[in-house]
Amino acid sequence: MLRRLISPSYPRQIAHCNFRNMSSGPTKRIFAPGGTAEAPQAQQYTKGSLDRSQLETDPLAQFDTWFKHAQKSGVHQPETVNLATAELPSGRVSARMVYLKELDSRGFVVYSNWGTSRKSRDVASNPHASLTFYWPELERQVRVEGSCERLTDAESQVYFDTRIRGSRIGAWASQQSSVLTGREELEAQVEEVEKRFEGEEKIPVPPFWGGLRIVPDMVEFWQGRPSRLHDRFKFTLDGNNKWTVDRLSP
Ligand SMILES: Cc1cc2nc3c(=O)[nH]c(=O)nc-3n(C[C@H](O)[C@H](O)[C@H](O)COP(=O)(O)O)c2cc1C
Repeated sequence: MLRRLISPSYPRQIAHCNFRNMSSGPTKRIFAPGGTAEAPQAQQYTKGSLDRSQLETDPLAQFDTWFKHAQKSGVHQPETVNLATAELPSGRVSARMVYLKELDSRGFVVYSNWGTSRKSRDVASNPHASLTFYWPELERQVRVEGSCERLTDAESQVYFDTRIRGSRIGAWASQQSSVLTGREELEAQVEEVEKRFEGEEKIPVPPFWGGLRIVPDMVEFWQGRPSRLHDRFKFTLDGNNKWTVDRLSP
């Protein structure tokens, strides 16, 4: 039965996924609305549509247009984005929310710890990463795939200087994602950093902290439509470094 559900063109790994529990089935705790008697119809997407004629020729320009529209429309923190990375050689994927802080002519810039965090280990072994934005108020999603490059310390310093002092101290104090014995340990580290920079207004950006630019080779714009017949347009870089656009099936 399972074999018939999986088309022969599917990547081989999919067939190796663990479907052990499918026949008996785990006990469901949550069943998202799906149009059954017990669970009313899932929400429909009715807020807009997207046509090829509305797209810019450059996906970064298109993102800029959509982002500014999201800001004007009161989308809650449209800069909130899921960053997914994957460690090699294990291939294990990890994902977390971060903030997009800058969009420049090369790509999407986020700021983080590059010394101890999980993402730092992933990116050190594998430069490929993806970003996923979701703006529910507009029923829009943007997916980005690309490769990562670190900003220089001088570039990171420019953004670092805009952060409130507490966040600058915090960046020095936190060995992000390392295990703490308790909150007190973190607070002691903060106190130590406070002492170190006492009386200094200008705090240098930590060498283990800064910007990461995701330089895209794929950007997809998704507009929700009724009956799940969404509009999707995918920009892909071709061999001549030119963007091509395809409409994708929902
Ligand atoms: C809304 C939101 C925004 C966040 N923004 C950032 C960010 O810009 N940079 C960052 O390092 N962590 C940010 N975090 C924390 C990360 O999700 C994560 O806990 C941290 O980066 C460590 O992840 P890692 O060890 O997987 O790398 C944010 C969390 C939330 C919920």
